[in-house]
Amino acid sequence: MDPLRFVASQLDELSARGLLRMPRTEPESPDRLVLCSNDYLGYAQDPPMPADRTACGGSGASRLISGDSPSHRQLEAQVAEWMHTEAALLFSSGYAANVGVVSSLMGKDDVIISDALNHASIIDGCRLSRAQVKVVPHRDTDAVEDALLQHQGARARLVVTDAYFSMDGHCPDVTRLRELCSRHDAALMVDEAHALGVFGPQGRGVCARQNVSPDILIGTLGKAVGLQGAFVAASQSVCHWLWNRARSFVFSTAPSPWLASALSARIARLAADDAARTRLSTITERFRTTLLQRGAPIGGSEGPIIPWHVGDSEKAVRFSRELSDAGLFVQAIRPPTVAPGTSRLRITLHARLSDAELDHAIACLSRLL
Ligand SMILES: Cc1ncc(COP(=O)(O)O)c(C=O)c1O
Repeated sequence: MDPLRFVASQLDELSARGLLRMPRTEPESPDRLVLCSNDYLGYAQDPPMPADRTACGGSGASRLISGDSPSHRQLEAQVAEWMHTEAALLFSSGYAANVGVVSSLMGKDDVIISDALNHASIIDGCRLSRAQVKVVPHRDTDAVEDALLQHQGARARLVVTDAYFSMDGHCPDVTRLRELCSRHDAALMVDEAHALGVFGPQGRGVCARQNVSPDILIGTLGKAVGLQGAFVAASQSVCHWLWNRARSFVFSTAPSPWLASALSARIARLAADDAARTRLSTITERFRTTLLQRGAPIGGSEGPIIPWHVGDSEKAVRFSRELSDAGLFVQAIRPPTVAPGTSRLRITLHARLSDAELDHAIACLSRLL
């Protein structure tokens, strides 16, 4: 008898509820238009070019053992300068960064105030920290203030939020959050995963756009940067603490020096690429305005993430299949990624789309109406 037989029945149950996800098996058509990646500037297909051509091979160990290299340190100095912080630290992914940062900084005597729609990696970091977690309604800054007032006796308080919510395409009021945190002696952590490269001067994100300095800023390097990894930009002491105590950093092989060096070159390119940001914002405006005029259910978002609200999971999957038949790849997003009854098509645009491709996408999507 299979001791793991419950797995098969759980899969059957997911399938019956229209929630089963499968790796794609059909061959991909080379001219399929991908409109659901996080590759907002269209960099992901470009070959990585390490800034230092001698950086090669794997790191061989964690940074604390023998995995450290000049490429890692150079990248971190560059990120700190770009983000206007004292220091920065490279992690192997955004997931690892959020889990490591939140769980190592916060402990059982602390309180974390976390937006209800924060990314799963922030939620997991909160759980691992053993701190008291106060989940506040999405983008409700009054609720954040109430929670701060309610928990004045905690050793430390951390307010944490995504900068650009990836399933909804909207941003929190980071100006008010900064003001509240400063007034109530709490720390502010902002995850710029989907905002980096897209918003703000030099693509520095939503906080930079609003001229806000969070105490901890997370940036991921697999989305607009188009490679892999993440950074934490913060004070020297916070980064030093993470080096010592963030378990997903300490107990994990360092990203290769080759990747660190390729990231250096890619970040320099992204920071200077206002042309791509302008193109992205121009096509996004045209796409959103045209579809809204036709009555598409895409209201309430800004920037290149454009959720098409469907509600029912099976209908969302059917829409996705119909688009696929027309050569458009738009993934259906279902629970548990989003709340039950709020399934959607998550459309994302990227700066390399031609006008003809954009028109084709608009025409295909209009047929769903
Ligand atoms: C807000 C946010 N933070 C972190 C992550 C995780 O980043 P990574 O894909 O680099 O692990 C994601 C990825 O989807 C995200 O949306």
